[in-house]
Amino acid sequence: MKKEQVVNCQFSVWYPIFKKHTIKSLILPLPQNVIDYLLDDGTLVVSGSDHNTQQTQTNNNDSDAEEDIQWSDDETTTTVTAPEFPEFTSKVLEAINSLGGRIFPKLNWSAPRDANWIALNSSLQCDSLSDIFLLFKSSDFITHDLTQPFRQCSDQDSPDPVINYELVLRKWSELIPGGEFRCFVKENKLIAICQRDYTQYYQHVFKQEEQTCQAIQEFFSQHIQYNFLDEDFVFDIYRDSQGRVWLIDLNPFGEVTDSLLFSWEELTSGEVANQQEGPAFRHTTSEVTVQPSPCLSYRIPRDFLELSTGEDAYKLIDFLKLKKSQQEELEVEEEENAPQ
Ligand SMILES: Nc1ncnc2c1ncn2[C@@H]1O[C@H](COP(=O)(O)OP(=O)(O)OP(=O)(O)O)[C@@H](O)[C@H]1O
Ligand SMILES: [Mg+2]
Repeated sequence: MKKEQVVNCQFSVWYPIFKKHTIKSLILPLPQNVIDYLLDDGTLVVSGSDHNTQQTQTNNNDSDAEEDIQWSDDETTTTVTAPEFPEFTSKVLEAINSLGGRIFPKLNWSAPRDANWIALNSSLQCDSLSDIFLLFKSSDFITHDLTQPFRQCSDQDSPDPVINYELVLRKWSELIPGGEFRCFVKENKLIAICQRDYTQYYQHVFKQEEQTCQAIQEFFSQHIQYNFLDEDFVFDIYRDSQGRVWLIDLNPFGEVTDSLLFSWEELTSGEVANQQEGPAFRHTTSEVTVQPSPCLSYRIPRDFLELSTGEDAYKLIDFLKLKKSQQEELEVEEEENAPQ
C-alpha cells in the first residue's frame, strides 16, 4: 500500500465522486488550534476568580505538579476552563443543524469507533461539539489519523504528503449492523465481500447470500467500478430494508484496513480472486463462532483512569459539560412535568 492510496481514501476525496450513493455529509476544515487541542493530553488551565492570573500546568510526570494547582471545594473560588473555539463551534453547530440535528463524526479517514463507550449514550451519535471532542480525545483511531496516517505504507522513503485535516459530519442514520458489508477491489475487480460485523451470526445474511451478492455486484459495476482514483481499494456498503445499496466508506487496500473474515495474504496473493468467477462471499455461519466485539479491548483502561484521576483535564471538562447539560435537560423536563 502506497501513501498515495491513503491520500485518495480521504473522505473529502471520495465523497464528491460518490455523493449520490452515500449518506449526506458536510466537511469542515479543522483549525490548527483545534488539532492541537485534540492532541493535547496534559495541559490544564486553572483560573481563580479571586485573582485574575492563569496558571498553565503541563503534565510532565513531575510528582510535585499537583501541588501547584489550587483545588478548592468552594465552587466560587476556582474554576477549570477548557479552551473555547467560538467561531469553529458556531460553524459546527450550524452544520449539525442543517443535517437534522444528529450526526456521526469522522476525521479524514476514521471514526472514533473505539471510544463510543465513553459517551453518555454509548454511541457515536453527536449533537454538539462537546460530544465530538469527548469522542475524538478518547479515540486511538483519531490519534492515528492525526499523527501517523502513513505508518503502514510501503513507500516510507518518500516524503509524507501534506494533509489538510477535516472534520466530517455525516447525517445520523440508524444502520442495522447485519446490513453492512465490506467489499475488496483488486485491479478494478470485485474479488471479495464480507459481512462487516463478523462477531454476530445474522440469519438473514445466511439466507440472502445470493441476493446480497448480486445487489453488491450490480452496485459496483454501475456506480463504483472505474470511477475511483485507484484500481485497488476497499469499500463498505449498507443494504437497507428495501434492498437499496448505499456506499458507507472507502478504505485503502492494505493492512490498515481490517480484512475481517479474509486475510490480507489471501486477498493480495490472488488466491481468492482465482478461485471462482464472481467475488468470494464470507459471513459468520453459526452462533458457535460468535466472537467478542473487536473494540471491546479499547474500553475502560487509560481513558477512564484519566477521567477519574483528572489527568486529562480537558476530557474531564468535556465529560462534565455533557453531564451538566444532560442534568439541566432533565431538570427542565421535571419542571415541565411537574403538576401545576
Ligand atoms: N451516518 C452514520 N450514522 C450512523 N452510523 C454510522 C454512520 N456512518 C457510519 N456508521 C456506523 O459506524 C461504523 C463505522 O463507520 P465508518 O466505516 O465510517 O468508520 P471507519 O473509522 O472508517 O471504520 P473502519 O476503520 O472499519 O474503516 C459503520 O460500520 C456504521 O455501522
Ligand atoms: Mg473506513
